[in-house]
Amino acid sequence: MQQINLMFFGDVVGKIGRKALAKQLPVLKEQFKPDLTVANVENLAHGRGLTETTMKEIVEAGIDAFTSGHHVWENPQGIPILNDENWSKKLIRPANVDPKLAGQGIMRLKIKGQEIVIINLQGQLFVPQETSSPFLAFDRFWQEISAQNPKPLVVVDLHAEATSEKMAFANYVDGRANLVFGTHTHVPTADAKILPKGTGYCTDLGMVGLHDSVIGFEKNSSIKRFLGETQSAYELQNNGPAEINGLVAAFNLDTMSIISLTKIREIVDI
Ligand SMILES: [Fe+2]
Ligand SMILES: [Fe+2]
Repeated sequence: MQQINLMFFGDVVGKIGRKALAKQLPVLKEQFKPDLTVANVENLAHGRGLTETTMKEIVEAGIDAFTSGHHVWENPQGIPILNDENWSKKLIRPANVDPKLAGQGIMRLKIKGQEIVIINLQGQLFVPQETSSPFLAFDRFWQEISAQNPKPLVVVDLHAEATSEKMAFANYVDGRANLVFGTHTHVPTADAKILPKGTGYCTDLGMVGLHDSVIGFEKNSSIKRFLGETQSAYELQNNGPAEINGLVAAFNLDTMSIISLTKIREIVDI
C-alpha cells in the first residue's frame, strides 16, 4: 500500500504563531511523517495578510504550501507575492471572489507521483467580503478535475464562519473531494470524521497563535470592542503560551481512501 500523509494547520496569527510553528514543527514532523505541510496564512503578518519576510520565515519553519482567506489582501506588501509566478504555485487565496483580486484559488502539486489539488474557497455567511457560491465554484473546478485520469487527490480549505455552511458544503462534495476542512474561526472543532461517501471532514482546524487570547488577539483589546469601542484596534502579543491546531490526514493512494484523520492540538511556551 502506498500511503501519503498530509498535515494542515489553520490560521497562523502573527509573530507568536510563526514562532510556535518554528518551534514545534520539527517535533510534529517526527511524529506524523508528513509528505506535505500546509498552513492558512491570512493572518500571518501581524494578523493581517502576509509579507515577503513573514512568508520566508514560515517556509524556513518547514511549511510547504499555503492557503488563505479574506484578510490576505489587507497588507499591500502581500499583493505582489500573491501574483508572483513562483509563490502562486504554492500560495492560494479563496477562488470565489472578485476575479480582479490578486492571486489564484487553486494549486496543483505532485507528491510521491500523486497529483494533489488544493482548492481555497470562502463561505458566504457572516464573512465580510462579497463572494459567489462556494458550492457552485467547486462544481466548476470539478468539471475539469473529474475528467482527469488518473484522478488527483482533492483537498478544500473552506474559509468560513458558519458551521452549518461548512458542514453542508462537505456533504455536497462528499465522494468528490477527498478532504474538506474549515478555517477562519480560529477555534478548533472536535468533529473530524469520514463522511458516508469517503470525504474526510473537519469543521474548523483552529488557529496557530496566542493561547490566552480572543481568537489569537490580546484579549482586552477584543473585549473593548464588545463594550462599545467598536473601532478599537486588535492588539497582538508576542510572548506567552501558544496553541498549535491542525489535522493530519493519511491516505491510501491505491484506493484513494482515508486511513486516518488525526487532530493536532498542542500548547507550547514562546
Ligand atoms: Fe483568520
Ligand atoms: Fe478569516
